[in-house]
Amino acid sequence: MSLDARYRAALDTAGAHGQAHVLGAWERLDDDARRTLLEDVERVDFALCASLIGEYVRERPRIVIPDRIEAPPVLNPKSLAMSAEWTRAWEAGESAIREGRVAAFTVAGGQGTRLGYDGPKGGYRVSPVREAPLFQVFAEGLRGVQRRFGRLPRWYIMTSPGNHDATQALFEQSGWYGLPREAVRFFTQGQMPAFLPDGQIAMSERHRIALSPDGHGGSLRALRDSGALEEMRNDGVEQISYFQVDNPLVHIIDPLFIGLHLVRQSEMSSKAVTKASDTERVGNFCLADGRLCVIEYSDLPEALALRKNPDGSRTFDAGSIAIHVIDRAFVERVTAPGAAARLPWHRADKRVAVVDPMEAAGVPRLADVVKLEMFVFDAIPLARNAMVMYTPREEEFSPVKNAEGADSPATSRRDQVRRAARWLREAGVRVPSREDGEPDAIIEISPAFALDAADLRSRPLPGAIERGSRVVLE
Ligand code: UD1
Repeated sequence: MSLDARYRAALDTAGAHGQAHVLGAWERLDDDARRTLLEDVERVDFALCASLIGEYVRERPRIVIPDRIEAPPVLNPKSLAMSAEWTRAWEAGESAIREGRVAAFTVAGGQGTRLGYDGPKGGYRVSPVREAPLFQVFAEGLRGVQRRFGRLPRWYIMTSPGNHDATQALFEQSGWYGLPREAVRFFTQGQMPAFLPDGQIAMSERHRIALSPDGHGGSLRALRDSGALEEMRNDGVEQISYFQVDNPLVHIIDPLFIGLHLVRQSEMSSKAVTKASDTERVGNFCLADGRLCVIEYSDLPEALALRKNPDGSRTFDAGSIAIHVIDRAFVERVTAPGAAARLPWHRADKRVAVVDPMEAAGVPRLADVVKLEMFVFDAIPLARNAMVMYTPREEEFSPVKNAEGADSPATSRRDQVRRAARWLREAGVRVPSREDGEPDAIIEISPAFALDAADLRSRPLPGAIERGSRVVLE
């Protein structure tokens, strides 16, 4: 289609939804800028925007906390140890992995602004000795799965338009982090425009719509729109092992978790940790009107966050670490055209530089805008038999989110070393301690070498770690 025909079609659609101003600078743009602008405009679902503006932009959506809100049942896998269900779950999980019915899925489309790292977060060098990037740690986890179960799971990675090329370049430059190229599949998530408070779509430049990723909840429809779901179906993939790009401790494919998901016939299962404090910045698992759900820390009323049980323990104590097993068929169901149940949107208020495309000068000014995102955990209440199970924090959760303080590179490296030391000690290796109790060595265990403490016991190990040394088991 010619540029002019595309322009007329775009103007028709935008105009029909009261957003013709997005093309307001057309006459003042050269052809390159016109093409860029059309690409942006063609990415916008104007009908969807129109349906959301009234509820989420002009009005501030009320966060409704149901009257009946209770602590959910959280499965503690330790309590099942050696039971018949435990054995069945292990068998079911291991066969699913061996038979190629499980794919790994990383959401990596976020903008990573808090870490202050320039580039896709997966390229962040996170490991304590080798300084391996997050993507490498996950790739080694997949190789560990291949070593242990005889099958390399396919790895789906969701990027966003802003970091897609840079992410792919990281894989190319690193030789696909040691994986066969065909084991890794990328797809890009959708975007949503930011809105001015009156509902007008905001422009970041005269020829650019202020677009940002539509949240990790957008991963479900991106799985569908990209063809990944169909590919999974053709390849016999039934379960999707979902995790975020920021947590190097994740057990990317966990046979027991997958097995419990299967034997309990859950459509979406989640892992939780005991919260570090009442107001820790994690999602909270709750039972709302009898259905399992996650309420984000920012939405949980303080009175509920502080609520205690008669024995003094915290009522809402299960924090979400954004690790899920999701049935492929469930994603197909919730993303089917015309599906009855949809994910809600969440509003975030930001202050960003915008331009008025109708003004000849197009000088940027700071403005309040509304961004809309979907969260993947909002699919939990839509799932049949949704299940949540505890995992020890020190075993599986130490994300890199902030440059300093909690959830920073320093705390994540510390926790990687602590876990490596614990696994080694459990395997009978002598690991020296400092006076403060921390391991007196910097130890790194590649997930290709061992996936967990039990796996490590079957590997060739030294008798002791030397005080003050730097050790890598890979
Ligand atoms: C998130 C969860 C929180 C959970 C915590 C655990 C939300 C709203 N909150 O918090 O409940 O306890 O992780 O670590 O998610 N991403 C995309 N596309 C997007 C937005 C994000 O792929 O459009 C990805 C990011 O790349 C990252 C992950 O989602 O891998 C988390 O995003 P982030 O915004 O950092 O969530 P948190 O606020 O840290």
